[in-house]
This record gives sequence, structure tokens and C-alpha cells, in this order.
Amino acid sequence: PYVIGKDCVDVNDRACMDVCPVDCIYVGDRKSYINAAECIDCGACEVECPVEAIFVDRKARGDEERTQFVEDQKNFFTIVLPGRDTPLGAPGGARKVGELGVDTPFIADYDA
Ligand code: F3S
Ligand code: F3S
Repeated sequence: PYVIGKDCVDVNDRACMDVCPVDCIYVGDRKSYINAAECIDCGACEVECPVEAIFVDRKARGDEERTQFVEDQKNFFTIVLPGRDTPLGAPGGARKVGELGVDTPFIADYDA
């Protein structure tokens, strides 16, 4: 799957959302997160991001910083985020969920 990396933090442009055919890009507070269970690897988002924040996960191999963002993106859907009762899981569409306005602890504290 594709991953949204550090350059999205505090930009959160959302242009990627508009082109995703399966609506699997979820908007947090400081950045957005791709749901790996829902992403069909079409790659449309990668070219759309104005700050080139998106990469395919295999391009994180050997890159410690990118690997942190791969793991963090998984966490966004599997941990109980601040202010919520349950993990998001795979909600089946970002638009119906709406902007979440919350990040993982890693991103909330991230020094961009
Ligand atoms: Fe972020 Fe780029 Fe999408 S800044 S929200 S990954 S268009
Ligand atoms: Fe959507 Fe990007 Fe995956 S456009 S399907 S999140 S590769």
C-alpha cells in the first residue's frame, strides 16, 4: 500500500483525497492517513500531492524515517486514537467518516 509521509504534516492539502477511487484517505489533524486495508495501490494519490508526501511502502525499506511513517499509518487505524472509544479499523470510506481532527501520538508530537 501507499503511505503518507512527513511532508504532509502541517500541510494536509487533501488533493490526494479527491483522486482516490476507493476513498481510503482519512484526514487527521496535522496530516492524513491511507487505510492499507482499503487501498488498491492505484498510485493516483502519489502524483497529486503538491509536496510529494506520498510513497509506496516498499520504498521505505532501509529508510528509518519512512519506516516510522509506515508503522504510524497502521497505528492510526489500529490503536484507540485520543478522544475515541474504539479503533477506526476499515470504515469503508473517508467521506462518510468526515475529518477526524485527531492524530496518532507520534504525529501529535512530531517536530516538523
Ligand atoms: Fe497530505 Fe499531500 Fe494528501 S499534503 S493530505 S498527502 S495531498
Ligand atoms: Fe487511493 Fe492512493 Fe491507494 S489513490 S487506492 S490511496 S494508492
